[in-house]
Amino acid sequence: MAAEYNPKSSLLLISLSIVLIFCINYILAVDGKSQTFGKVLNPPKLGLKKQKLSHFHMYWHDVVAGPQPTSVIVAKAPTTSKSNNYFGGIVMIDDALTEGPELSSKLIRRAQGFYASAGIHEAATLVNMNFAFMVGKYNGSTLSIMGRDKTLSPEVREMPIVGGSGLFRFARGYVQLRTHHMNLTSGDTTIEYNIYVFHY
Ligand SMILES: *[C@@H]1O[C@H](CO)[C@@H](O)[C@H](O)[C@H]1NC(C)=O
Ligand SMILES: *[C@@H]1O[C@H](CO)[C@@H](O)[C@H](O)[C@H]1NC(C)=O
Repeated sequence: MAAEYNPKSSLLLISLSIVLIFCINYILAVDGKSQTFGKVLNPPKLGLKKQKLSHFHMYWHDVVAGPQPTSVIVAKAPTTSKSNNYFGGIVMIDDALTEGPELSSKLIRRAQGFYASAGIHEAATLVNMNFAFMVGKYNGSTLSIMGRDKTLSPEVREMPIVGGSGLFRFARGYVQLRTHHMNLTSGDTTIEYNIYVFHY
């Protein structure tokens, strides 16, 4: 004998299933919270409210020559000096980031890190640096940039922002850079930076 279709009992079955799914979810959530080594957090409770997209514009000054260089060679391979692209050379920097294109214009940040010649057949560097903000509400916050720069290119290059600290926690984004001026005698270089960053 076939069971009779009863709309009331199938409704009850659906309701029971929904309750069961909620119960399972609740048990899983509670289990997640009860672990001693990690738990799920509510972002606003950590001060993370609405995600913003910010743009910053500045000039980066690589000063190689003169009595106070902010860019110094710290390592190289025995073959580096013979390489057309200075392959293997590592340069440590504490470069000024200013509002205008002149080194004497307002200092807003410093770029601290290194760049390494990573191209055998072309001038390409691995750049790894922190932009340490020094003014306004961003004072003390940092943005971490790691990417590839085709140093001698006259075009606009791009590098990723891989993270940040302070007001830039959970930062992600990119920088676009263009060489503003390069003194081929001294090696001093000024690069224009446009920074696009998502942060809270
Ligand atoms: C930035 O922070 C440092 C360290 O807290 C402080 O000494 C400095 O005066 C601050 N600079 C500005 C411009 O607020
Ligand atoms: C380039 O650098 C050389 C050597 O430091 C300096 O004498 C010259 O004035 C610089 N040129 C420009 C245009 O800044």
